[in-house]
Amino acid sequence: MSSRPPFAHLTGWGSYAPSLVLTNHDLEAIVDTSDEWIMSRTGIRERRIAAENETTASLGAVAGRRAVAVAGLDPADLDLIIVATFTPDYLMPSTAALVKEAIGASRAAAMDVGAACSGFVFAYSVAHAHILAGLARHVLVIGSEVLSRFLDYTDRNTCVLFGDGAGAVVLSAAETRGGASGIELTTDPSGAYKIWVPAGGAAAPASDGTISGRAHFLRMDGRETYRYATRTIASTALAAIDKAGWAPESIDLLVPHQANMRIIESVSKGIGFPMERIFINLDRYGNTSAASVPLALTEAVATGRVHPGDRIVFVAFGAGFTSGAIAMEWTADPAASARADAIAPEDVPVRIPDEWDSVGPLPAVLARAFAARGIDTAGHPVPTEVIA
Ligand code: ACO
Repeated sequence: MSSRPPFAHLTGWGSYAPSLVLTNHDLEAIVDTSDEWIMSRTGIRERRIAAENETTASLGAVAGRRAVAVAGLDPADLDLIIVATFTPDYLMPSTAALVKEAIGASRAAAMDVGAACSGFVFAYSVAHAHILAGLARHVLVIGSEVLSRFLDYTDRNTCVLFGDGAGAVVLSAAETRGGASGIELTTDPSGAYKIWVPAGGAAAPASDGTISGRAHFLRMDGRETYRYATRTIASTALAAIDKAGWAPESIDLLVPHQANMRIIESVSKGIGFPMERIFINLDRYGNTSAASVPLALTEAVATGRVHPGDRIVFVAFGAGFTSGAIAMEWTADPAASARADAIAPEDVPVRIPDEWDSVGPLPAVLARAFAARGIDTAGHPVPTEVIA
């Protein structure tokens, strides 16, 4: 065990979003909805979809390897890898174990954390605590989701909201001030069955009935979830800011869970915080659950929205109900973002099982939607002579 460092700096960041883009217009052909309804109620224009050979582990491995490169570390420097997800490749092993192998992190322990859309913030807090306890010096925290495999594309209430993606950060032990100063985590099980996946666990194992009842897909009471989110996000963010001993007006950037534009606007009002200081990219990705905050953070840094010395707040809410916020001080050089460019998806392949050939099937309804636009399910444009 190493000595106890006083701080855990955020030293690396990275993301990966699949190249397949599913637009609101594509969804109009799948369920009874419209681009106008989705845009006006949520602010989402399009979302990414994992191609047929992509999984939660493969998305997370690319984002994670990029974050390690940005931190200027070798994967062997990592002591711990935590993957936040509710769409793991398998119930076991952990998705983190598959990521560890893919990125070549020879020494790291690896585990998953489940707190749905708050998962990244919860996992960040675990990484922070490991470092401050002297259990680890470098921890990779990944939020990765392939929600498209858990959505019911006959249910317009849910299938328009979510997308696939991954984001990651590296936390490193440091002697100088920086990193998280205030962390707030909450869990309110009164909402346990307001957003959930009923079947596939020990309470309702897979059966003909669970399959025909579409019980392996995400179900959500949208209005109740909306109420919870608007009640909780501002108070959770304010609690983390208060624990840091900061005034809300001293926060330079808020990176909220990207679920719904109207929820983000209500947070802005709740904290009395201008929209210009809130980073938003949900129009292009939809709700990517645990990937949402680190995916947004990585874009915020790459587009010049983050500077050394900035006070930044991450805030998320999700199934459970859970909510979490981190008030942190940024110390890294944003120019290090460029190091992520050296990592391509083919550099970090996830090993697939020997005796199992159905890894990564794309839902047929999505394959048809992409085919209608001349895109094959591996995510490549079909050559024009084939279309003709
Ligand atoms: N297209 C067209 N109409 C729709 C669609 C759609 N895609 N979805 C729902 N509708 C209809 C409903 O059926 C309803 O019709 P009805 O009145 O005839 O029954 C009508 O639109 C209005 O429904 P509301 O629920 O009132 O719509 P609302 O304005 O609340 O928006 C929404 C719905 C966007 C789902 C909102 O409630 C919301 O954002 N909730 C929070 C969801 C969320 O953030 N979930 C993520 C949680 S994080 C996690 O852990 C995964």
